Amino acid sequence: KTLSTVSIKNKEYQTDEYTNVTPKILSYLGRNLHVQKDNPLSLVRQRIVNYFYSSFTHRGNPMFSVYDNLSPIVTTQQNFDDLLIPADHPSRAKCDCYYVNKEMLLRAHMTAHQSELLRAGLDNFLMIGDVYRRDEIDSTHFPVFHQVDAVRSQHKDELFANQPNLHIFEPHFDPNNPKNYINSISDPMKQSCHTLEASKLMEAKLKNDLMGLVQELFGKNIKHRWVDAYFPFTHPSWELEIYYENDWLEVLGCGIVRNEILVNAGPNKTIAYAFGLGLERLAMALYKIPDIRLMWSDDSGFVSQFQNKDVNAKITYKAVSQYPQCKNDISFWLPENITVETFMNNDFYDLVRDIGGDIIEQVKLKDKFIHPKTKKHSLCYNIVYRHLERTLTQEEVNKIHKEIEKATVDAFNVVIR
Ligand code: PHE
Repeated sequence: KTLSTVSIKNKEYQTDEYTNVTPKILSYLGRNLHVQKDNPLSLVRQRIVNYFYSSFTHRGNPMFSVYDNLSPIVTTQQNFDDLLIPADHPSRAKCDCYYVNKEMLLRAHMTAHQSELLRAGLDNFLMIGDVYRRDEIDSTHFPVFHQVDAVRSQHKDELFANQPNLHIFEPHFDPNNPKNYINSISDPMKQSCHTLEASKLMEAKLKNDLMGLVQELFGKNIKHRWVDAYFPFTHPSWELEIYYENDWLEVLGCGIVRNEILVNAGPNKTIAYAFGLGLERLAMALYKIPDIRLMWSDDSGFVSQFQNKDVNAKITYKAVSQYPQCKNDISFWLPENITVETFMNNDFYDLVRDIGGDIIEQVKLKDKFIHPKTKKHSLCYNIVYRHLERTLTQEEVNKIHKEIEKATVDAFNVVIR
């Protein structure tokens, strides 16, 4: 048997019979769309973080900490065992996950980091990042997507601030000695260690906090429903669906964190809720983006619709042509009497459109330059060409570009650089 390794971000990993990551999949690591300034996923991320920062404060400080650059390479311990996912659970299957080897995989959900952050002593936190799943291929599925996961914990004093005689735990559970207690989940309402009051109040907070978020994103009139669900790491558990374009769309999973997880991460007397939501689903619904692959597009026809926008701006995506773009720069020296400030941009834009017609998709000012010695002023524009019905050849674009250069020289008395 030969030993071989796979290199990921300059680190070598031993491969084995579990290894199924491909170069293509590994090429998505480090793209971090969720923190790229003008990406729709990043706009939604910022709105979610803003909601949690402003809704939950203690003495003027945000109560939630945000983790958005945790490494996507995790152990099976983190992704599964820490979350009480049984050894034979189908979600561990090779055909559903991208394994680096038997012990390591590309995280299949952001919940993979829940235990380590609890162990670090955190009580309220958001985990945001890219997750990897082998799945079908269609307009709403892509092997890489992005999630926001959260945990919110409450002590008895917080949860029952106004009812000091109520308790988080049943009398038969000793929170000082939790390890030899068998916590049952056979009651659909709650875990056996929790009182009904505590579980129900935490459920109400969970649903209220998430409805607040969804209404903040989609408006007060959004139609929704809670669906009972099962996750090995929460009990009880739910999914939230919103009614969108004549269909119910599942946007998140959530529940009351299994007490064993809290206790395994260190001494803990809180009750906590957790949820995980998909950024792609929310962004597609919010901005009416028809295909998940567009999130990865660097086509300026897509990117420009989300560029330099206020995070709360109402944006509705408008389809751009299927055919590829051709880009060409035009740079010129201005005549003595014109500066980079006084040059009439709009006259130039009209000229470009007069000559290029509808195949001009975009004209962007790329650079202003003043020569340090000659004090001559120069401008550079990037022109994006695209035909709506066919693929343009570079040759025909070059021809039109030359005509634009010539007309610019004639109209503005400039010198092409
Ligand atoms: N990790 C779950 C998923 O990816 C979502 C979830 C997170 C559910 C936290 C409950 C609690 O589907």
